[in-house]
Amino acid sequence: MDMKKILVINGVNLNMLGIREPNLYGNVTLDGICDMMSKFAEGKLDLTFKQSNYEGEIVEMIQQAYNVYDGIIINAGAYTHTSIAILDALKAVNIPTVEVHLTDVQNREEFRKKSYISIVAKQTIAGKGAEGYIDALKYFLD
Ligand code: DQA
Repeated sequence: MDMKKILVINGVNLNMLGIREPNLYGNVTLDGICDMMSKFAEGKLDLTFKQSNYEGEIVEMIQQAYNVYDGIIINAGAYTHTSIAILDALKAVNIPTVEVHLTDVQNREEFRKKSYISIVAKQTIAGKGAEGYIDALKYFLD
């Protein structure tokens, strides 16, 4: 059987992992997370990694995933809480999506409790740090 193709999208400010608020996000870098995921997925899932700080660029990544990818793993960063455009793009392509957050967004500031992505996500994984991305991969292996 062919391996599922999974697009891993990291959004705004996630390129700053390792530098950004380590008390919250830890010391792991985005490259470190991608390496962990690649090692876990080897021979099981075909992964593509993308990162952008621009909302429209993330919308385009999702649009271009249509008919190409079998699944999306997304941590949209702060756009999670604001972007109806990313939600609509996910609805448009209708690709099974798992939402990841390093931190437990339900137990931080009030404004982080709302996630537009949760409206379409098959699963939301939050508060497990980098390990949450591995759990997201497991979703696509079941
Ligand atoms: C985040 C949580 C968001 O609220 C925040 O804006 C981020 C990172 C997380 O991974 O915990 O940039 O998505």
